[in-house]
Amino acid sequence: MKLSFDRFQLALARFLLAAGLTGPAFSILAGLKAARSRLCGIDLLRAECRLRQALPFEAREMVKEELRLHPSNEDALTMLGKLELTVSDALAETTPEFLEVLAKVEPYTMLSRRRLHALYQAAIDVCERDEPGNFAECGVAGGGSSALLAYVIKNHSKRKRRLYSFDTFEGMPEPTAADTFGGVDARRSGWADGTCAAPMESVLRAAVELGAEDVILPVKGLFADTLPRMRSEMGPLCLLHLDGDWYESTKDILDNLFDQVIPEGYLQVDDYGHWDGCRKAVHEFEKGRALTFSVNPIDATGVWFRKPVA
Ligand SMILES: C[S@@+](CC[C@H](N)C(=O)[O-])C[C@H]1O[C@@H](n2cnc3c(N)ncnc32)[C@H](O)[C@@H]1O
Repeated sequence: MKLSFDRFQLALARFLLAAGLTGPAFSILAGLKAARSRLCGIDLLRAECRLRQALPFEAREMVKEELRLHPSNEDALTMLGKLELTVSDALAETTPEFLEVLAKVEPYTMLSRRRLHALYQAAIDVCERDEPGNFAECGVAGGGSSALLAYVIKNHSKRKRRLYSFDTFEGMPEPTAADTFGGVDARRSGWADGTCAAPMESVLRAAVELGAEDVILPVKGLFADTLPRMRSEMGPLCLLHLDGDWYESTKDILDNLFDQVIPEGYLQVDDYGHWDGCRKAVHEFEKGRALTFSVNPIDATGVWFRKPVA
């Protein structure tokens, strides 16, 4: 019954888009995502809406989401091929090793190349300096950035360490009023609840491609439940990737894990420049602790900083 209703909604969205009514078509698709519908074609049609609105970067991420859920969708594969030719996110300088890893993780990640590169460099740095501690990523989705971090542990760490990868593995939870982008409510942005969905197997599959699955521990559930439960097992952290987009998610990560980051440990915040609520959570925390974070921009949205020494 639900499936046939979802099919009807998808067909209606397709009809509206064909009639040039992109906004109403997109709203129907957002409703299907919020209802966690896994019907083939929803994310592809979201991408078509974004292309009509001249937003090719967003369209590319939506097609990748379609392919994570429906890997054999030929239309999505074709569209991804075309989009890869039009959207480029070139790196100034890098290493052959990074490019090899990038080729493996890109189908599984929403991060830009520059943000992946910054994460890679931070991970390499702590491993080469043999800093103590595990890695944690909060916000895994398809698992590309987790797989990259696991690869660095596996191939560069001089000591035994693990990557803890936290996610609902069922897509974004509901945003709150703090979650806006340039004043536009997250619910109207096309990236609200139910988006970024990928099953836990996706991160393990990405890590298998890099031979690094044995160093990852995926933990499923809301950060508010999983982080307090896992933090004593995790112990000190030398790298924390904050990629939960929302205000409450970012606050939950900082409230639960900041104290475990070692002095001068790395924190990379993926959505700082994009989601107003994410940036607000970072600065509220900084102010509440009377700290100063020396924030280094990576691209239009990602930043990193090192935990100030007390
Ligand atoms: C932008 S995606 C992460 C992208 C990923 N790092 C990559 O490589 O593409 C954000 C993820 O954070 C997760 N998330 C956000 N808030 C969360 C929360 N409070 N608890 C658990 N997961 C959350 C969502 O399920 C989603 O998969």
